[in-house]
Amino acid sequence: MFTELRLRNFKSFKDAVLPLGPFTVIVGENASGKSNVRDAFRFLMGMARGHTVAETFGRGFTGGELTWGGIRGGLHGACHNGAEEFGVGVDFGSRPAAVEAAYDLDARVPRDLRRPTVAFEQLRNLTSGARYMLRLPPQSDDLADELRHSDFVLTDDGVTFVDPAVEVAVGGSLLPVYGHPRQDRSDDKIPHLRELATRSLVALRGLRCLDADPGAARDPAEPGVPELGELGEGLAAVLRTISEDDGNLGRALASWVAALAPTECQRLLFPIDPNGKVNLQLVESGGRVVNAPSASDGTIRLLVYLAAMFGPRQGKTYIIEELENGIHPTRLHLLVELIERSVEDGDTQVIASTHSPDLLQMLSENSIQHAVLAYRLDGQPDTRLKRIMDIDDADRLIPKYGPADLHSQGWFETTMEFLENAEPGVEQAG
Ligand SMILES: Nc1ncnc2c1ncn2[C@@H]1O[C@H](COP(=O)(O)OP(=O)(O)OP(=O)(O)O)[C@@H](O)[C@H]1O
Ligand SMILES: [Mg+2]
Repeated sequence: MFTELRLRNFKSFKDAVLPLGPFTVIVGENASGKSNVRDAFRFLMGMARGHTVAETFGRGFTGGELTWGGIRGGLHGACHNGAEEFGVGVDFGSRPAAVEAAYDLDARVPRDLRRPTVAFEQLRNLTSGARYMLRLPPQSDDLADELRHSDFVLTDDGVTFVDPAVEVAVGGSLLPVYGHPRQDRSDDKIPHLRELATRSLVALRGLRCLDADPGAARDPAEPGVPELGELGEGLAAVLRTISEDDGNLGRALASWVAALAPTECQRLLFPIDPNGKVNLQLVESGGRVVNAPSASDGTIRLLVYLAAMFGPRQGKTYIIEELENGIHPTRLHLLVELIERSVEDGDTQVIASTHSPDLLQMLSENSIQHAVLAYRLDGQPDTRLKRIMDIDDADRLIPKYGPADLHSQGWFETTMEFLENAEPGVEQAG
């Protein structure tokens, strides 16, 4: 589970930290920077797949097929206000050993956008304090100082300074670090690094942006699709696999389906079409069978979230935009409950943005503690982040008035404006 996202000079963020819980709901006005958080996670996802910085921001094609959607705004929009570098970092706790770790990556993006590079990459074991620099900071004038703080240092050409006996090949991401350390060394720093790198990769590769698109989710799916695509592609196949689970999973899915969509979807059917693809059919409460292409958008969205929460788990972190989209408040309530139950085991994590006061009101006591406000002050356009419960007086006012009313009246933003920028447009001293 990720416990913190750090953003420096990334898009609308100048220097911000997003604290993360099992279920983190992000609220904030239009253009406050909520989707830029998603883009930062996408950056980490792309790098963890072994893409270069340029490949991560651009669209990727393999054999003519789109295999990576890139990042909104491309490389051109990556750095905050004309800066030429940005940094993204995460803290995470990883099971089973519950090691707390941190991964940071700085990228340099020259103004002409040519040859963006990874300028600095670092892994830290926060439990032991070990720090592994995978790349040196650019123009590191005082290399010796860096070395003093590092267990060992790897450079582009694989030379190690601290312990000249260790050689490790390093590429543009964690991937090569994990893949190539020489196995024949007795130095125990290598296994430690390798283990840490493996854990980081597992966490980063568990990131999933889920942007449910009913159109894409309705399509017949290849049988055996292991998990949903970013738009919900493969829905029929994933739901079928879960339904056929002879443990509790199939039954649990069935009862959630019936609860979330009581009239339009009592049961699911998965006929195979002549092309061998899995189709999705919904059985209404009156017994009428509806093909997925005729099912409502909201129902398909709910099924996508069910498939995500019940599908292959193991360390998945879902980033969901505007969770409430197209969903009636009575169902949204159940969706929130589904997510809160799914994250209980600590293996699944959900980070979702919303504009819905209702959704905020539906959060459990635990989830509301993790809800975060993204805001921008008048005259200081960078995005700031703050847990709504940490806003002055919120612990008194939220129980009294409810988060929904405070949210719809803009109280969170107004209060932050008042506290941090009492005189609009004038920077506070200090
Ligand atoms: N490189 C950049 N430097 C500074 N600001 C940027 C940069 N890239 C994007 N922004 C700003 O980020 C804002 C958009 O942020 P984002 O899309 O995350 O908003 P949002 O909170 O998701 O809004 P909505 O609720 O409307 O979806 C815009 O105001 C845009 O100008
Ligand atoms: Mg947005």
